[in-house]
Amino acid sequence: MRLFVGIALPEDLRARLSGMQRGVPAARWIDPDNLHLTLRFVGEIDSVQAQDLDTALVQVRAARFGMTLAGVGCFGQGRKSRALWVGVAPVPELDRLQHRVERAVQVAGFSPEGRRFKSHITLARFKGDPGHWLDHHLAQHAAFRAGSFEVHEFVLYSSLLAQAGAIYTPEAIYPLSPAP
Ligand code: 2AM
Repeated sequence: MRLFVGIALPEDLRARLSGMQRGVPAARWIDPDNLHLTLRFVGEIDSVQAQDLDTALVQVRAARFGMTLAGVGCFGQGRKSRALWVGVAPVPELDRLQHRVERAVQVAGFSPEGRRFKSHITLARFKGDPGHWLDHHLAQHAAFRAGSFEVHEFVLYSSLLAQAGAIYTPEAIYPLSPAP
């Protein structure tokens, strides 16, 4: 099983983001149903490891919080651009949750994530050089902001890499506690 831990987005927000999925010919746009925030990519693991992971994630304690999407950006530069994403307005509870998930993943026996966490929702990956289309898209949506929504759970997803694109399935849902 190929697994990752993430946060689902409400349907209205996914619909809004899908409106931004245009205008860059080299982009492979993510299916709007699949738009999500990744807290931790785990990768290919067996069912015993998945069980250990679930046991550790069940013990994560974190509070619900409001999340606002803000701005757009990309990973990589120029012709080396790899992905276009929507950003998240900084919120300490998200960082706290991500830390706790990372710790739980390590408790379950996995190596620490080497890359620094950058909260983002990937809109597209690039097949080739996105050229000036990408700069135009980034400028056009720089002021993007979407009203806050409440994050009340996080999810362990499996990812099946199919011909027509990835199929993400929630395997387990972990509720967050009501804000004090
Ligand atoms: P992304 O959010 O930047 O696209 C499922 O594949 C999710 O895990 C994707 O959202 C993807 O990141 C994230 N992910 C992180 N590292 C990955 C890796 N090495 N391979 C595939 N997906 C990865």
